[in-house]
Amino acid sequence: MKPSVVTDIPPLREAIAGARHRGLTVGLVPTMGALHQGHLRLIETARAETRFVVVSIFVNPTQFGPNEDLQRYPRPLERDLELCEQAGVDLVFHPEPALLYPPGYRTFVEVTGLQEVLCGAARPGHFRGVATIVLKLFNLVQPDCAYFGQKDAQQARIIQQMVRDLNVPVAVRVCPIVREADGLALSSRNQYLEADERREAVVLHCALVEARRRIEAGERDAAVVRQAMMERIASATGAVLDYAAVVDADSLQPLGRLVPGCAILLALAVKFGGTRLIDNLPIQVPV
Ligand code: PAJ
Repeated sequence: MKPSVVTDIPPLREAIAGARHRGLTVGLVPTMGALHQGHLRLIETARAETRFVVVSIFVNPTQFGPNEDLQRYPRPLERDLELCEQAGVDLVFHPEPALLYPPGYRTFVEVTGLQEVLCGAARPGHFRGVATIVLKLFNLVQPDCAYFGQKDAQQARIIQQMVRDLNVPVAVRVCPIVREADGLALSSRNQYLEADERREAVVLHCALVEARRRIEAGERDAAVVRQAMMERIASATGAVLDYAAVVDADSLQPLGRLVPGCAILLALAVKFGGTRLIDNLPIQVPV
């Protein structure tokens, strides 16, 4: 069945109330559209765990910097709606920016200490925009459960913190990264890559796997692990490193020694031309 496409708030609230009235649990998958298998995996998980699945498609202007790709971000709405239909989505929420940010809009959510590091350093204000829109979507849809991808590890961590700190009654689920056959993490931005950049982009995943191999082989000096990732990225001629990081999975702060049993995150951001790619690997340091 085709999902209903709702662009305004009263019909959204009505549809959710209808689902609630029927005793259905509600799942929310927030997206910016240009859907791919990564998004579809989140939808599948939502379908398996909740009875009424809402997908939001909204290219959120407040999370884009002034020199970022807000204007050219892909918006293939018809195809997205077909994919939602095939995936068994019950409702698509697709508002205009002015509906969510009317003139005079003033309120923003900041998750201090987590929003400034990693991607936040190169993209000031990005996570403020993300946390704000996600809280707004939580308030609009009031889902039981919301689904995010490990692909955006920092985003997922920030949303978990926000939900905890602000007592938001939503269970946050984080689903594994979906990759292409060669290891490249799926992203709506991969379509910006030229053919040669696309071939080289696999280097992110290779660098992460190489770093994990070193840790598994006994390396406990984070600087050595980080250096190995940087060298691997430098081997790709078109790659410009933004950051290579070995951080605590909880605080996202850089580590010195890797403590056995500790949950850590290996994270990378690399530019190919104007396209910025991110990838990560969560690991438990072997005891
Ligand atoms: P978007 O980039 O469209 O991603 C929507 C969700 O899909 C995010 O939770 C993201 O982590 C997940 N995702 C993307 N690629 C993935 C992959 N290869 N494997 C698994 N999950 C993947 O992230 C956003 O939109 C926005 O910031 C949003 C949360 C919607 C707020 O505007």
